[in-house]
Amino acid sequence: MKYGVNEQGYYGDFGGAYIPEMLYPNVEELRQEYIKILSDPEFKAEFDQLLKDYVGRPSPLYHAKRYSEKYGANIFFKREDLNHTGSHKINNAIGQILLAKRLGKKRIIAETGAGQHGVATATVCALMGIECIVYMGEIDMERQAPNVARMKMLGAKVVPAISGSKTLKDATNEALRDWIGNPVDTHYIIGSVVGPYPYPDMVARFQSIISEETKKQLLEQTGSELPQYVMACVGGGSNAMGMFYHFLDNEGVKLIAVEAAGKGVDSGHSAATTFLGREGVLHGSRTILMQSDDGQVIEPYSISAGLDYPGIGPQHAHLFKVNRAQYVSITDDESLNAGLLCSQMEGIIPAIETAHALAYLEKMTFEKTDNVVICLSGRGDKDLSTYIKHFGF
Ligand SMILES: Cc1ncc(COP(=O)(O)O)c(C=O)c1O
Repeated sequence: MKYGVNEQGYYGDFGGAYIPEMLYPNVEELRQEYIKILSDPEFKAEFDQLLKDYVGRPSPLYHAKRYSEKYGANIFFKREDLNHTGSHKINNAIGQILLAKRLGKKRIIAETGAGQHGVATATVCALMGIECIVYMGEIDMERQAPNVARMKMLGAKVVPAISGSKTLKDATNEALRDWIGNPVDTHYIIGSVVGPYPYPDMVARFQSIISEETKKQLLEQTGSELPQYVMACVGGGSNAMGMFYHFLDNEGVKLIAVEAAGKGVDSGHSAATTFLGREGVLHGSRTILMQSDDGQVIEPYSISAGLDYPGIGPQHAHLFKVNRAQYVSITDDESLNAGLLCSQMEGIIPAIETAHALAYLEKMTFEKTDNVVICLSGRGDKDLSTYIKHFGF
């Protein structure tokens, strides 16, 4: 695969495993085992069965007729919001819990921003009867309160991260700290295509079901498996990577990744990593991240907890650098308006993360015959209080 990972765990200049000595055995175990486990027919059968009967896959590819009329192209929504637990995050959580079981792990830790990955992880831990601890920034616990309650109801312990901006980056730091302290019995279910190799590749593989299904569904609905555009929002980048994966080598398919501009790229309150970032190391991999001149991570900001992250996964950094995908950004206000528009034109209330991808349609011009697929990464129930506060319902 032209844009895939090499044997050393790199995508071009990005990736690798920059980890403390204490984590070496865990990460090395994963590196040696993940391909073997993922290609084991029994593992694949169990993964596929759970995706079908528990998650509800395949998720529909919906031709959004009113959006298509409005934007002058054939707009399709890949409905990850209809998955069990309400987002794409469950695809990866199912894959990693099955992997953790095969590695004999007894305790699961995770980080979460919007709470969707935390809920997905708490869900699969309940399913398998395994202890679950989720780290979450204190600010995110407030703005995504429904998901905190869901995790607790599912039996997980939710631990607030109270350092830095008290958001996703800080939760990730806490989870890594826990893993360093509990290297033997614990598996860390990272929720995006970030972290040391092999995580970015492993998570991308679990999420690649999104584009695998999309190709088949497009062929049925349009007569061609290749659209002109594929679009997704990017926090760490897992729904985007799942949506891009099987289109990467189809160079004619334009890939558009939408970052969170927050209050504006130059406002000092933003999470638009490719606009503001430089190359460096974050959470175990070499990537692009927002940092000061002396290499300190700059606190990101977005109204969307799931996009409020100062980096992107290393494969995204590579796709950005070699220009295979286009990285753009959308502000808080633009995303909220897009969330409202989608609710009222298509009857689908999207997550605020997802609404960033939808908002970018406003900035594009299409040919009437263009087929455009947007990853509807999650549903907006968790964001109702933010929508209500903004629009004053
Ligand atoms: C619905 C939804 N979409 C997107 C994201 C962003 O994550 P990623 O970039 O890994 O897809 C999140 C993160 O929590 C989310 O909940």
